[in-house]
Amino acid sequence: MKIADLNIPGNILLAPMSNVTNLPFRLMCRKYGASLTFSEMISADAVIYENEKTIGRGMSCEDERPLGIQIFGNSPEVMTRAALRIEDIYRPEIIDINFGCPARLLTKDGCGAALLRAPRLMHDIVKKLSDEINTPVTAKIRILKSMEKTLEIAHLIESAGASAITVHGRTRQQQYSGKANHEYVKKIKQELSIPVIANGDIIDEISAQSILDHTECDGIMIGRAAMGNPFLFRRISHNLETGEMLEHNEFMQRISDLREYFDLLEEYGLMHTVNIKAQAQWFTRGMRNGRHIRRNIADAENIEDIFQNFHNMRTHSE
Ligand SMILES: Cc1cc2nc3c(=O)[nH]c(=O)nc-3n(C[C@H](O)[C@H](O)[C@H](O)COP(=O)(O)O)c2cc1C
Repeated sequence: MKIADLNIPGNILLAPMSNVTNLPFRLMCRKYGASLTFSEMISADAVIYENEKTIGRGMSCEDERPLGIQIFGNSPEVMTRAALRIEDIYRPEIIDINFGCPARLLTKDGCGAALLRAPRLMHDIVKKLSDEINTPVTAKIRILKSMEKTLEIAHLIESAGASAITVHGRTRQQQYSGKANHEYVKKIKQELSIPVIANGDIIDEISAQSILDHTECDGIMIGRAAMGNPFLFRRISHNLETGEMLEHNEFMQRISDLREYFDLLEEYGLMHTVNIKAQAQWFTRGMRNGRHIRRNIADAENIEDIFQNFHNMRTHSE
């Protein structure tokens, strides 16, 4: 897939997710085949006011390229100043604008999905950023109930200068309930010339293939299904390339991924930013003996305890 002049080595993207897609997690997704990864969303206001913690969310490294950094805000001027600052510090390949977050924390200030109701302002934000920064600008939206209005917004984003658009097939009101509707993204793909990426409910090899086939989109973006399961990118890439399901030992894979993730958190000095037990629960979600595993994690005193329990479980099951 090509976004502006940038060659993306594939078409499976990791979604931006706050408190999830930190650098160690993104590195693991890349290792397993994510073609493009996005930072957690960054507040344009916080960047302007030099909030160190917020700015740190854009931290990356050479192994991660290409990198997308996502920002949110409600003012074309402030967002452009923030984007220029981010360009300066991190030199990302893409700057993405959040027009989809339904959380009240953002929408009460007219940011995220609230902007879907202010198409003129959306246009001005995309246009000013596209005109004034060197990095390609992309946008991530949710759908509106009306297909016609959703298409209008997609066209407006394209005409304002965006280099690609990602469409999460749920409305702001749906939050995360119901099923993502990919008819909207299919229609947007038919009408726009820029790359269009489908997002929502891509959870495995079968949904990835069927959404790509059905929408004929340029790429797919995976969010929740990758939480605690970066190996999903390897499984899906393998399946798209060969048509086969990848043989693997789910238990051993998840445990070694969790270990690697903790090692990377340590390496980048980010261990204090995550809840260790919650992360361990994510990495073991959906595994056999789930209740037993969850109890062991809850009772563990430290990281080594967690892994000792996994080791014991493995020995008993052999
Ligand atoms: C914990 C969490 C945090 C998220 N944070 C962001 C964010 O920072 N920016 C954004 O555009 N979307 C965010 N999203 C939405 C996802 O990027 C994605 O659009 C949504 O989860 C639908 O895709 P999925 O069905 O593959 O999860 C977040 C979702 C979750 C579950």
